[in-house]
Amino acid sequence: MSIKKYTQANREAWNEVNGIHQKHNPIRLSEVFQEKGFSTLDEHITRTFIRLGLQGSNVAQLCCNNGREVLSLVNLGAQSGTGFDISDHAIEEAKKLATISKLPCTFVCSDVYDIEGVYSNQYDFLYISIGALTWLPDLNKFFNIASTLLKNDGKLVIYEMHPMLNMLAMEGDPEFEDPMKIAFSYFKNDPWINNTGIDYVGNTTYESKTNYSFSHTLASIFNAIIQSGIQISEFEEHNYDISCIFTHLEKEAKIPMCFTLIGKKV
Ligand SMILES: C[S@@+](CC[C@H](N)C(=O)[O-])C[C@H]1O[C@@H](n2cnc3c(N)ncnc32)[C@H](O)[C@@H]1O
Repeated sequence: MSIKKYTQANREAWNEVNGIHQKHNPIRLSEVFQEKGFSTLDEHITRTFIRLGLQGSNVAQLCCNNGREVLSLVNLGAQSGTGFDISDHAIEEAKKLATISKLPCTFVCSDVYDIEGVYSNQYDFLYISIGALTWLPDLNKFFNIASTLLKNDGKLVIYEMHPMLNMLAMEGDPEFEDPMKIAFSYFKNDPWINNTGIDYVGNTTYESKTNYSFSHTLASIFNAIIQSGIQISEFEEHNYDISCIFTHLEKEAKIPMCFTLIGKKV
């Protein structure tokens, strides 16, 4: 299948789940974003952005969904925020939140692989977070585009689920025996094909549009970043879950469950 066929199928699946996420979200985003300084970001990534110089910067996020993280970064001190996402419905929600909150944020509905040249060399920070990389069939192409968006010396910040988690089955999967048992290859290179929904907010299942996601190894993430002209300066692995899918593994804290990566466009 071509990149376009994967991303178009995923657009439909992400449009389909948007209303389901809004229904299950315990936080009323349209109310909380009217509070000055409100943020959905956790302490670790907040501290990281502040340390790297968030105040007064221009920030962009790829695969921003409903914009909650872009809005948060601006509420924490960025001068402006721009979010890109392929889902028309998520971007519609993000635009409403920007209007209600009166925060200087712009949201663009676009496949990341089709982002227009007008956004090149504009941003001090490019943020990629929780559950974004898995939707990208071609990481090299993705990081080349990410790098183009950054100004020289601009920083890439990734706060993502760890690829180790791709090896574990979830309760209900036919492959599931034990939460820590290795069920899938770390090197899986065919896509995950899903028809039971992508509701990571309510964790419900439903008969969904077919969607395609991808396992990326740490090496493939590092190599795609390096070849894009971004110099990696910091990398940390953490033993807690940021996905809300693997919280049951936090007690044992035996494996890395998420990571932070910082890089600079040179
Ligand atoms: C798990 S969500 C990201 C959630 C976000 N990190 C947060 O915490 O709110 C993944 C997002 O990637 C978007 N996406 C998937 N493929 C994309 C593509 N090719 N171009 C742009 N956005 C894409 C989806 O529409 C979805 O909103």
